[in-house]
Amino acid sequence: MRLLVVHGPNLNLLGQRQPQHYGTLTLAELEDRMRQKAHQLGVELVFFQSNHEGELVDVIQREGAQADGIIINPGALTHYSYALRDALEAVGKPTVEVHLSNIHAREWFRRRSVIADVVMGQVAGLGWRGYLAALEALVSTLRDEGRP
Ligand code: DQA
Repeated sequence: MRLLVVHGPNLNLLGQRQPQHYGTLTLAELEDRMRQKAHQLGVELVFFQSNHEGELVDVIQREGAQADGIIINPGALTHYSYALRDALEAVGKPTVEVHLSNIHAREWFRRRSVIADVVMGQVAGLGWRGYLAALEALVSTLRDEGRP
């Protein structure tokens, strides 16, 4: 089983960016923890980070189409990118939306996710652990559906 993990704008700054919201782990450290969990679960992860909406759309179309499922933290694009939403809908793979911070307990504009209606579910506010929860839930769901 192969899953695509997509990180949106500014997530390359994890570790230095507002640790009160996003924690102290760098993106590389977060990906290492995901890789360890993926190894235990026997699945392969493909990671991609970009600060550019079009590149994210391209990778969802290209790599998402090859993957069994997608884990995505679209960063601020969560709140307004219909292009990203449409790409996820078009590719049609089971997708889990992850946010490090609790987007429902911050500024008003973060409460709305325009991708929420095309994803399986959302994990928010659990920091890096949310990615591991998303990974476990996605793999378990896909296996229930009969994927190896
Ligand atoms: C975020 C929340 C977004 O509102 C913000 O723009 C981010 C990160 C999160 O992981 O909590 O860049 O998606």
